[in-house]
Amino acid sequence: MENIARVPVHVSIIMDGNGRWARERGLERAAGHIEGVESVRACTEAAVECGVKYLSLYAFSEENWGRPEDEVNALMGLMFKSMLAELSNFLENGIRFVVLGNRSRLSAELNSTIDSCMEKTRDNDVLTLIVFLSYSGKWDILQAAKRFAAEVAADPSRAGELMSIGTEEFGRYLVTGDIPDPDLIIRTSGEMRLSNYLLWQGAYSELLFCDTLWPDFRKDEFRSALMTYSKRDRRYGKVK
Ligand code: FPP
Repeated sequence: MENIARVPVHVSIIMDGNGRWARERGLERAAGHIEGVESVRACTEAAVECGVKYLSLYAFSEENWGRPEDEVNALMGLMFKSMLAELSNFLENGIRFVVLGNRSRLSAELNSTIDSCMEKTRDNDVLTLIVFLSYSGKWDILQAAKRFAAEVAADPSRAGELMSIGTEEFGRYLVTGDIPDPDLIIRTSGEMRLSNYLLWQGAYSELLFCDTLWPDFRKDEFRSALMTYSKRDRRYGKVK
């Protein structure tokens, strides 16, 4: 395998195409999601092998709550089962597991499993695996603004911050806090849009759209995406 010259610190993936993968095989949509978990596992392993420090996955958007109830329940059940099944793997491989999003919409049972999984893995430092659940970029920016405004309103000595706050400081109120912005955002299945994902954090991310459906996106595809990234010229709006 060719060496990857420049490994991104944070790779983020919009996992798309599970439904189409299932339909092509005459299966229920849920079968695509189940197979998609195998791709999550494969990409997590590949990220560790390549030395990526943060791998984040758009697993369920705020908009996805509008899907049929059966599918929502199947997806939530799959998250729950996968977390329990993968915990020992996270512990063995030094993986810190983090869930970010509007957790007030998740069930108490799922929230408590998430808390326990995050707590048990919190000191791991080989890879941080972030699952965005009930997340949307607009929601994130709005919750950050509300939290910041509430803090300032509660402490009149901070009133000046309303005008002086900069992008760096404001960014810390986003759910990603001090997680570095994604270097690379991959979207599978041929769709070319961000779908309300990491709108602030993705300001200078390299974007990579590929036709592979998520259940078919495995280690080779992950490595090939990193190879493409390593050949990109990142200028951040400047001239080199
Ligand atoms: C998009 O495909 C996929 C999702 C909305 C769900 C992705 C979730 C998983 C693979 C499970 C993740 C599990 C863990 C543990 C992180 P789609 O249903 O929109 O596909 P389509 O566009 O072909 O219909």
